[in-house]
Order: sequence, then C-alpha cells, then structure tokens
Amino acid sequence: MSRLKALSLFSLLLSLSAVTVLGQSNGEVRLAVNGLATGSYTSGRVQVYYKGQWSNICNTGFGSYEANVICHQLGYDSADNHSFASVDSYGIDDHPTLLANVSCANNNLHIFQCSYEETFNCDDLNDVSVACSSTPVWTDPHQEHLRIIPSRYPSMGRLEIYLSGDWDTLCDNGFGEGEANTACRQLGYTYALDYNHISDMEGTGGRTTQYTCCSSSTDCIESCYCQDDDDTVDTTKRRKRIDLICTHDDDVTIECDFDEKEKEDAGTRDECDFTARDRVVAIVAGTIAGIIGLIIAVGIGIFVVKTFCLS
Ligand SMILES: *[C@@H]1O[C@H](CO)[C@@H](O)[C@H](O)[C@H]1NC(C)=O
Ligand SMILES: *[C@@H]1O[C@H](CO)[C@@H](O)[C@H](O)[C@H]1NC(C)=O
Repeated sequence: MSRLKALSLFSLLLSLSAVTVLGQSNGEVRLAVNGLATGSYTSGRVQVYYKGQWSNICNTGFGSYEANVICHQLGYDSADNHSFASVDSYGIDDHPTLLANVSCANNNLHIFQCSYEETFNCDDLNDVSVACSSTPVWTDPHQEHLRIIPSRYPSMGRLEIYLSGDWDTLCDNGFGEGEANTACRQLGYTYALDYNHISDMEGTGGRTTQYTCCSSSTDCIESCYCQDDDDTVDTTKRRKRIDLICTHDDDVTIECDFDEKEKEDAGTRDECDFTARDRVVAIVAGTIAGIIGLIIAVGIGIFVVKTFCLS
C-alpha cells in the first residue's frame, strides 16, 4: 500500500513537472490537417519531433516503406498512400522542414531507425503527407505482442500484452527498469524514459499479468527468464503468470524514447514473433528431414534392386 502511494505521488510529481515534454519523445510522429495536429487523424501532414521541435519531412526520397513506418508508429498496420503538399489537400504547415531523404527498411518500427539527412532548403510545398490504413498494428497479434494504448502520444500510455487470446495489462509489482527497457525495445524504441502507474490510464476488464526477470539488454519480453540460484537459466522458473493480487490499480504506464546513439537496440517488426520463427524453423527442419528421407529411400531402393534383381 505504501509502495502504491509512493508511486502515485511519483506520477503526480512527474505529471506536474513534465507537462511540456510529456510524450514528445525523440522521433514522435503525428499528423496535421491545415496546421492542426490531433491524435485522431489517420491521414494528414507528417510532423516529426526532432531536436526539440515539430518538423515536417521533405518529399525527396520518400516512398512507401517510409510511409509504412510512420503509420506503424501511429499504431496502424501500414500506409494506404502518401503524397505531398503541392498536390494533397491537407493545407500548408508552418513547421520547418528539417528532414530529407528519409530511407527506411521494410521492418523498421520507428522513423529514427531509418537514415535521413538534415535540410534547410526544402519548400513547405514538398512536405510529406500519409494516409494510414484503418487496421491497427495489433489486429493479428502474436503471443506476447506488446502495445501501448496511447494517451496523447503513441510512445506513452498503458502497456498491454497479448497472451493466449486476450490483451492483459501489466502489473507494476516486480516491473522495473529491465522490464520497461525491454518493452520499449520490443516496440521499436531504444529505452524507457519512465514507467509508473497513472490512474487515469488504467485498463478496464481483462487480466493484469505480472512480469519480472527482464534485463536491460533483453530485446523481447518473451526472452525474459528468471535465473535459478545456481545461475542457470531454468525456463520452468520463468515467472510469466497471472497475479491474482494485481488489479488495474497496479497497471503499468510506460513512456518510451529513442536515443539515436543506440538505434541498433531498437526492435524491428516481427523480431519478437517467436511463433512465426518457430514455424519457419519447423518448415525448414521438415523439408530437410524430407530430403534426407528421400535420399535414404532411394538408396535402399538401389540397394534392393542391385542385390536381388541383378544377382
Ligand atoms: C537527397 O538526395 C539527393 C540525391 O542523392 C541529393 O541530391 C540531395 O542533396 C539530398 N538532399 C539532402 C537534403 O541531403
Ligand atoms: C490518399 O488517397 C485518398 C483517396 O484517393 C485521397 O483522398 C488522399 O488525399 C490521399 N492521401 C495521401 C496522403 O496521399
């Protein structure tokens, strides 16, 4: 109880002190129409929080991979289309256009995983816009998929995990720096700026699951293991369980950030989808076993023919 009070005092102090920076993590993206950005737009002028201010992206080198990454960061599966100011209908945006030649890989999750160049002479008429698909990224989740149910910004909100058909919240009991950093990396960021409990972001319904034993170098929640006393990894001791003591009063709120010096730490799309990986391994193993089986069968056949027919 005292721990809980300490936490809510902490989050109160945090919300008082962090009003101006709340959720504006490095590389945060949002969409604007006629210069007005709201969290509810699914299409509009792209704005990126870069070096302490909102900036637009220049159209040079911008394509569908880059549009997909922006929509993914906003919580949508992909982009339907992308355009730029001189031909689209989203109005002129007064923010400076500082980013050009943004180039992403198809499996990037965050705009700063992509390469880019700084520009000072891109006209506002070349500012990029995107239209995101209406399918949320978590429509077809894998086991231990993570999502942030956003408050005002996609990088901050209630942390949820997909376990056997349900989205559970996470319990702040036992949830520390290692767990928070792991969750942010899995989501495509590089570290957790903060984690705590914020009461107006509590979940309703569903379960609250307790997670422990993630280290600050773990990339996926699924890979968190508790060490046995003799320091060997024992998967049976892994504590990934529904904690009946936890309620939504204990829900973890997380705030992820992106440090470009550590961009290699950020997770990529499907990196933590162990089910898909297991499926690929099974297909490869099955194919190899089939080929070996065929070779053996042919060998036996030749042997039989040689021994019994030709003698
Ligand atoms: C973007 O790439 C093009 C083609 O390589 C190059 O000409 C241009 O200078 C680059 N723009 C910036 C702002 O670096
Ligand atoms: C996407 O396509 C729709 C329908 O053609 C169009 O209205 C919208 O302006 C386009 N948006 C972007 C960002 O290209």
